[in-house]
Amino acid sequence: MRNRGVTKAACFFVFSALLIYATFYLTTFLRNPSPNLFPRLEIENTEYTILDQLDRMERQINQIAKSLELDVYKVSQSGEEHSEVKEEKKMRLTKKLFPNSELFNSWGDELSEEEQRQAERLFQLYGYNVFLSDRLPLNRTLPDTRDIRCASKVYPEQLPSLSVVLIYLDEALSVLKRAIHSIIERTPAHLLKEIILVDDHSTNDDLKEKLDEFINQVHQQRPKLLKKISHMQRLGLVKARISGWEAAVGDVVAILDAHVEVHKQWAEPLLARIKADRTVVLSPVFDRVDFDTLAVNSYSANAHAFDWQLWCMYESFRPDWYERNDPSAPGK
Ligand SMILES: *[C@@H]1O[C@H](CO)[C@@H](O)[C@H](O)[C@H]1NC(C)=O
Repeated sequence: MRNRGVTKAACFFVFSALLIYATFYLTTFLRNPSPNLFPRLEIENTEYTILDQLDRMERQINQIAKSLELDVYKVSQSGEEHSEVKEEKKMRLTKKLFPNSELFNSWGDELSEEEQRQAERLFQLYGYNVFLSDRLPLNRTLPDTRDIRCASKVYPEQLPSLSVVLIYLDEALSVLKRAIHSIIERTPAHLLKEIILVDDHSTNDDLKEKLDEFINQVHQQRPKLLKKISHMQRLGLVKARISGWEAAVGDVVAILDAHVEVHKQWAEPLLARIKADRTVVLSPVFDRVDFDTLAVNSYSANAHAFDWQLWCMYESFRPDWYERNDPSAPGK
């Protein structure tokens, strides 16, 4: 685990999306630090004390990464012929073709040379592990990272309706599909008004016909749920969010990056608080998805802040939040 770089990067992603539980740490996106817009959806500050968390996180990451890799190889093997040659190849240590690539620091030991080349090429293109993403099921199970008290809370059935805006530029198709899938699967159908995809002028061919095919598939179950807005030229992060915001018709708008997966019951706590007080501005606790293993790392609650250079960071809540000793309680 690197220290400050990771912290800032994770922090940036957290800040760049309003409603994400799981968010990628993507080096490519660091080029675009920008202040956020907080439109109709309101954000409540969350935080974590970074240095305190690093050790614990690293242990968790390693565990999750290990189990994730095992799963992945099960998946990839099951689809292929079980020839003896294949088995033998897995047994011997494959030569590392890219010893200096960050992608292979803690992932990919068992890949063949051809697979390593593919994985590295996709990593250079996207900045995260698309090779692995393409092989993970869209409905992969995420670890339940909530405080145990969160899981037992009950929310009203009737809540404001939700428009989710996903903005992207040359995102990997499998990543975008998994984001959409997780939102559909993990948001109560009667609350999810629409998912608005804002494409800020991607050049990636995958995001054309193949994405439209996926949208059509979704529409067989949930007609008109997905709306796609395509910018004819690149307008940037903030204008992409505004485009989505303007198109939204739900009571509440959640603006996310497209490299997210949401956890079970992600929306209800936010919508319930907005229902109780429509002037609050909310943010959930954001977990992080590693760029290489795509493992989900839990983060604890902290307040968001940014410095004079607009680097985002975490701040502590007010002391009374810590005195309550209940991480399921909202903080300021
Ligand atoms: C994911 O989808 C597959 C195929 O529809 C299904 O067999 C599997 O049980 C699902 N997994 C989860 C965790 O929902």
